[in-house]
Amino acid sequence: MPGGAVVLGTTDTSRIEAPVTIKTYLMCVFAAFGGIFFGYDTGWMGGVLGMPYFIQMYTHKDYPPAPIDAAHLPTDFSLPAWEKSLMTSILSAGTFFGALVAGDVADIIGRRPTIVAGCFVFAVGCILEIAPMDVLACFVIGRLVAGAGVGFISAIIILYMSEIAPKKVRGALVSGYQFCITVGILLANCVVFATQNRLDTGSYRIPIGVQFLWALILGGGLMFLPESPRFWARKGDIEKATVALARVRDQPRDSAFVQDELAEIIANLEFEKAHIPQVGYVGSWLACFQGSLFDGSSNIRRTLVGTGLQCAQQFTGINFIFYFGTSFFQTLGTISNPFLISLVTTLVNVLTTPISFYIIERFGRRRILLLGGSSMVVCQFIVAITGVAAKNATIPGGNPTAVKAEIAFICLNIASFATTWGPAAWVVVGEMFPLPIRSRGVGMSTASNWFWNCIIGVITPYFVSADKLDLGPKVFFIWGSTAMLSTAFAYFFVSETKGLSLEQVDQMLVETSPRTSSGWKPHQTWAATEGKVHEKAEKESAEETEAAA
Ligand code: BGC
Repeated sequence: MPGGAVVLGTTDTSRIEAPVTIKTYLMCVFAAFGGIFFGYDTGWMGGVLGMPYFIQMYTHKDYPPAPIDAAHLPTDFSLPAWEKSLMTSILSAGTFFGALVAGDVADIIGRRPTIVAGCFVFAVGCILEIAPMDVLACFVIGRLVAGAGVGFISAIIILYMSEIAPKKVRGALVSGYQFCITVGILLANCVVFATQNRLDTGSYRIPIGVQFLWALILGGGLMFLPESPRFWARKGDIEKATVALARVRDQPRDSAFVQDELAEIIANLEFEKAHIPQVGYVGSWLACFQGSLFDGSSNIRRTLVGTGLQCAQQFTGINFIFYFGTSFFQTLGTISNPFLISLVTTLVNVLTTPISFYIIERFGRRRILLLGGSSMVVCQFIVAITGVAAKNATIPGGNPTAVKAEIAFICLNIASFATTWGPAAWVVVGEMFPLPIRSRGVGMSTASNWFWNCIIGVITPYFVSADKLDLGPKVFFIWGSTAMLSTAFAYFFVSETKGLSLEQVDQMLVETSPRTSSGWKPHQTWAATEGKVHEKAEKESAEETEAAA
């Protein structure tokens, strides 16, 4: 530590965090706004690809004569499949690499400037998307660059929020990020809905241009928030770490709470560094894969669980509804307005996510992952079975009762995801890595989310297209089965992190297995383990030992 500064802490595990104040809440709530980028940017592309003006511009085919009805355009009036696929999936490529690089940048320049840089990169990408007209290469490069910005933001917001949020409400606050994702998806749908029939460049430039606003709000607002104290601790700048911690806990810098929490962060960091030394750049990446696969607290195990959990979140099958919902509802037959049903599913997602703010702290991350996953399995199998049964009954024009039941269970499936896997996967990833590899671990896990998101986007059309497997509702047998695997993954590999400080999570992982983790209570501070407690704490501890004897 610079100047040989030694920060002494307490032996009392319950005393290492200040009471939560409104200001502390508001800081995290603001940071959660980053979820809007994630949701909005995944939400607008599907709609824009179906816009008459956009199609006309890129295919040079004339828009068919009136009546203008975007929902019933002739089949040849659409972009070629490869262009659609390229324009859609290139975003995930950008986000994947953005999220991977973001961890390094965040360790060098800090969490906050990395998010601000992400906003800037994102804005450059948006300019490339909308400035030139009719230049596919420019649009695609713009989407790649914007994707890199979203990758930066989506990985580092989780890291930043997890590092500044008070432990008692960290789950609820990080769930706020998921809530913003859902709001972003909804907003994108609304804006695209409003501009879809315009026959000028506003049809697609408005939905894309709106995003500058998100960049301005997040980038501008973050200038006023403090840096993560854990970033400064990692850099060895105790002075700045103290100031930042005092600000995020809304306490004077000489408060005992601030001193004790800082001592925990430092003692834990020193312990971690001593166990897995990182030499040089390559060595610091290799550190993410060190240790034994059978040790629940090893770095390699945490990296695999973090990336695996994000993969499992994608394989719950949720994005099938969000990406292909409209065309799936069209195939069911009796639905007059499939767009409306898609909008309803997006609304269910938004309205049920806040339930997670409460249950994630009340029941814990692990329990809700198991509960939500099981519910998704049941709902998706019911949709599949109902679909098959209705098809066998062959009612001409479709079976309205069966379709209603399918939609009801699809909505229940979304609610199950929104209240559990949606937020909990992000919360757990933000909490499970030790400080020396945290930024990279969160970055790799976020990259895994985008990678599998892309793979699902690419393979799903083969399951449902009329000229391919044409599975119809039977596709839910696949998602029901993969959701079962995701639930099993959570059961075997995810530990309970509710109510623990990030440093206590380390201790819990050392002392328990996922299945026994829920009952674990912190019993010793890192400061005590490392022999760095202050006089008062030592005296109290001696008195306690005496009283016990
Ligand atoms: C997932 C996204 C999904 C969204 C839906 C996020 O947590 O990572 O893939 O589209 O939730 O709300």
